[in-house]
Amino acid sequence: MKTSEIIVKQLKVGGFDDNFSYLLYHAGSGDAALVDPCGDIQIIETAINTCGIVEPRYILLTHGHGDHSSGVNAVRNFFDAPVLAHPHNPFPHERDLHDREKLPFGNLDIEVLFTPGHSEDSVCYHLSDDSAVFTGDTLFIDCCGYCKPGKMFKTMREVLYPLNDSNIVYSGHNYGHVPFAALGEQKQTNPYLYIKELNEFIEAVKKL
Ligand SMILES: [Fe+2]
Repeated sequence: MKTSEIIVKQLKVGGFDDNFSYLLYHAGSGDAALVDPCGDIQIIETAINTCGIVEPRYILLTHGHGDHSSGVNAVRNFFDAPVLAHPHNPFPHERDLHDREKLPFGNLDIEVLFTPGHSEDSVCYHLSDDSAVFTGDTLFIDCCGYCKPGKMFKTMREVLYPLNDSNIVYSGHNYGHVPFAALGEQKQTNPYLYIKELNEFIEAVKKL
């Protein structure tokens, strides 16, 4: 799918549990980034090869759970970019991210959003033109990841809900009735996103 100048390829890589990896590509500069390389690495390599000249910029991890980083070492054989992650992410990485940091990419920025709840080291990546947000195991389509309810509620209310409706939600697993959806739609249909009271959220999390 083409979102503004950035092409986002959602890759059904299988893996541990219907995982998604993502390739972001800006044709003008060749800038490319991978989010959570995992599962079937051949699918990722093929996607990269269809882009033309690629300038590997970043490998971005959404959190430290092994199913999201299982392909990092293998992809570095053909995608030589530094691994960036939350400071508490146990996977070896070149650089620690900071909350709200902006990573230059093509003609825009990838904004780093710390989103604790599913894990302490959870990070979402937001394109600065409000075309996409990569949510890992924090926000799924119509659901959310297993979590500490208090922290996740704060993340949903203060970090994700305020984002513009136009952002497409690209999550870490193919768990929804569709593989991706607009955040504006999810604000209407996903209780973990629209619930406004902590007590209600705690009850909803028990159903996960
Ligand atoms: Fe996870």
